[in-house]
Amino acid sequence: MSKNFDVVVIGGGPGGYIAAIRAAQLGLSTACIDDWKNEKGGPAPGGTCTNVGCIPSKALLQSSENYEHAGHAFADHGIEVKGLSLNVGKMVARKDAVVKQNNDGILYLFKKNKVSFFHGHGSFAKADGGGYEIKVSGAAEEILVAKHVIIATGSSPRVLPGAEFDEKSILSNIGALAIDAVPARLGVIGAGVIGLEMGSVWRRLGSQVTVLEALPAFLGAVDEQVAKEAHKLFTKQGLAIHLGVKIGAIVNNGKEVSVEYTDDKGVAQKAVFDKLIVSIGRVPNTNGLNGDAVGLKLDERGFVAVDGDCRASLPNVWAVGDVVRGPMLAHKAEEEGVAVAERIAGQHGHVNFNTIPWVIYTSPEIAWVGRTEQQLKADGVAYKAGSFPFLANGRARALGDTSGFVKFLADATTDEILGVHIIGPMASELISEAVVAMEFRASSEDIARICHAHPSLSEATKEAALAVDKRALNF
Ligand code: FAD
Ligand code: NAI
Repeated sequence: MSKNFDVVVIGGGPGGYIAAIRAAQLGLSTACIDDWKNEKGGPAPGGTCTNVGCIPSKALLQSSENYEHAGHAFADHGIEVKGLSLNVGKMVARKDAVVKQNNDGILYLFKKNKVSFFHGHGSFAKADGGGYEIKVSGAAEEILVAKHVIIATGSSPRVLPGAEFDEKSILSNIGALAIDAVPARLGVIGAGVIGLEMGSVWRRLGSQVTVLEALPAFLGAVDEQVAKEAHKLFTKQGLAIHLGVKIGAIVNNGKEVSVEYTDDKGVAQKAVFDKLIVSIGRVPNTNGLNGDAVGLKLDERGFVAVDGDCRASLPNVWAVGDVVRGPMLAHKAEEEGVAVAERIAGQHGHVNFNTIPWVIYTSPEIAWVGRTEQQLKADGVAYKAGSFPFLANGRARALGDTSGFVKFLADATTDEILGVHIIGPMASELISEAVVAMEFRASSEDIARICHAHPSLSEATKEAALAVDKRALNF
């Protein structure tokens, strides 16, 4: 027998589960279908983000940073650690426990908000009057009838032809988060967000990490000044970053992986690794949806085609998160999920794409919101810039973490903040102030006039805002 819902969400990642909760909060009868399985075959909602993305990567980044601090940075504080040892199995088990806490938390939130959860695979069966029949295949087969469908099926790692993932030697994010012993030689193809975060984890734990990147510029989407600083610092830490390479034959003999490539000077090179992470972007998950049954349109890049409000090509079908255009970020997926639920309920949900922050959780962290200096130049916008180094910040000195800076970009005439770029300690937390400021269309003078606690890293933000008007006080 079929079950009727106002809203059926396909996919339980940050886009889908948050959309389902918001829809239920708004009084809509809501179901969420998710097919992710834990190691026992049970439900593990939360998608890529919770299971093999944001959460486990941050758990391992923290553990590996603790290890590196105990081995190096603690000595500067007069703390001598003798007999330091590493238990990778325990570190990975801790990461798994953190993931499970988040899976369980989402199941609890579904119950609390009266979202009906179906563990299985969701696909379109047919259009049904004004709504849709959605088939759930899994432990139990079900047919759900939905007035509105929200597609939130996320993305999967892009495969490099000739380097298919076996998750033992050639690893996607899934295998990279489950390595059980430190590989002596770790190769990474793609110096993007995953490559740098996962490369940092294993470098801190002792791997010799080589990163091979096709583009000639390092972190091309990041403000050039920040990218330059990051390249300098990561290289100093020991990441061997090769830009402008062209990958050739890759041979995986089950024990080691050899990678042939030409370097930026066109010289043929070969490198041999114990493990190879391939992190060259992600592709949207649309295959299993059976969208053809209802005529669902994809765009030219294979994403579900949507308008600015996440409406798909069919009436009452919506799509959010990694499966649609825009940055592949958990918080972007969540914002879209909330906005769509509110639109379905007749409200005016809104996502401001200009104020979505980005964070790369390396050490130091990199975070930004708004436009980069190179984008402002390309757009012909007259701007003023101000920056402040953490070297001149008292709290950073006390922490022993003085690398990097905060940089403000403001309109030359109105002083409105157009972009804020941070490389340094706790950049992921500091960026929120800039997001709030930009959301309220603040000027750099607004931030410069606000009282910031002393001593705090946030004083570097205030000082960078003061520097826009060439009146930083501590530098
Ligand atoms: P997903 O999280 O991919 O969820 C989709 C869910 O739908 C999955 O559970 C999938 O199995 C399920 N599904 C797919 N098809 C079906 C179907 N037909 N039926 C039922 N279920 C289906 N972003 C950040 O903002 N911050 C970070 O720090 C960060 N770190 C990351 C680290 C890594 C290693 C990776 C890989 C990604 C990271 N991301 C991060 C990106 C983030 O994970 C994604 O942007 C986010 O998960 C997208 O959410 P989503 O809901 O669109 O899709
Ligand atoms: P990415 O797009 O960040 O980086 C991919 C890199 O691979 C690019 O620099 C690209 O030029 C390079 N590349 C592509 N093809 C190549 C080839 N054939 N040879 C060599 N280099 C090649 O993608 P990544 O790192 O896979 O991550 C996917 C997405 O996941 C990110 O874009 C981001 O949206 C999300 N993510 C977010 C995180 C965060 O917010 N902290 C952390 C990790 C992932």
